[in-house]
Amino acid sequence: MGKIKRIGVLTSGGDAPGMNAAIRAVTRTGIYYDLEVIGIRHGFQGLINGNFKPLKAYSVSDIIQRGGTILKTARSEEFRTPEGRRTAYVNLREAGIDGVVCIGGDGTFTGAGLFSEEYDIPFVGVPGTIDNDIYGTDYTIGYDTALNTVIQAVDKIRDTASAHNRMFFVEVMGAEAGFIALNSGIATGAEAIIIPELKGEARNLKTLIETGNRRKKSSNIIIVAEGDEEGGAIAIANKLKDDFKDYDVRVSVLGHLQRGGSPSAVDRVNASRLGNAAVEALLDDQKSVMVGLQNDTIVLVPFRKAVKLHKSISPTLLELANVLSI
Ligand code: F6P
Repeated sequence: MGKIKRIGVLTSGGDAPGMNAAIRAVTRTGIYYDLEVIGIRHGFQGLINGNFKPLKAYSVSDIIQRGGTILKTARSEEFRTPEGRRTAYVNLREAGIDGVVCIGGDGTFTGAGLFSEEYDIPFVGVPGTIDNDIYGTDYTIGYDTALNTVIQAVDKIRDTASAHNRMFFVEVMGAEAGFIALNSGIATGAEAIIIPELKGEARNLKTLIETGNRRKKSSNIIIVAEGDEEGGAIAIANKLKDDFKDYDVRVSVLGHLQRGGSPSAVDRVNASRLGNAAVEALLDDQKSVMVGLQNDTIVLVPFRKAVKLHKSISPTLLELANVLSI
């Protein structure tokens, strides 16, 4: 302890509900340990542009319940270049910032990892993405809220699907991962779930739906992750039109409403724990690590692993979805 006097905090990549709770936790933990805390606006781009503002305890009042991020976010192309990172380093040094907490996903940790290999200012990451697709942590900030948002929407779609005896393809987010689709599918009793991790699923749909109908199902909900191999719910529905001539088919793409809204209790509490742990990690001389949660316990995972290794879908949950959707 002792080397770190002033820390920066930024949010980067896609926003996620609970990021504000994490910013609050970083700020207040920093102040608790007598550190100065600087908010960096617009993610890594803010490092390059020197877009800094001091954060006091009161600066983060009244934000724990808000979606989005008070620090704004961005996906910075410039930070991918050595010149961009050089400018960021100069700005950080000039501002006297000794360590940075970055809240984001894969892209954020890739950028922070590169920077840490080149320069001597430590970065510690906090996993924030609705996709929950980061290796090394059971949980990412925003996932729980997004899941609940999807469930509320699908329950409503089920009402109208059932009233009309219709088949709905509902597209949820997850460009490379099916965590939202699989878990929301289980939670809403979807008849089928199509995710990027499984190939050829769309082809089995006809048999699956017909079996369900013989069991007197009156509506069908098929949850599709946007990154599925066929190209999303609209593409699948179009492709399968001939197979489903007797059905009244509709498509609903939930889109960015999944990213907004007031964070759930789970997201608020976990974001608070992770933000707090990230500052303590910097004070313990950690660098190039993400703080994560495994079995409800805080862990440190090197950026290298968090970025390179793939988080797998649970085969047990997949099996459960299959058993319960008959
Ligand atoms: O990573 C979070 C996420 O919401 C993905 O699920 C989605 O594919 C992507 O971001 C969309 O990002 P944007 O609208 O910011 O381009």
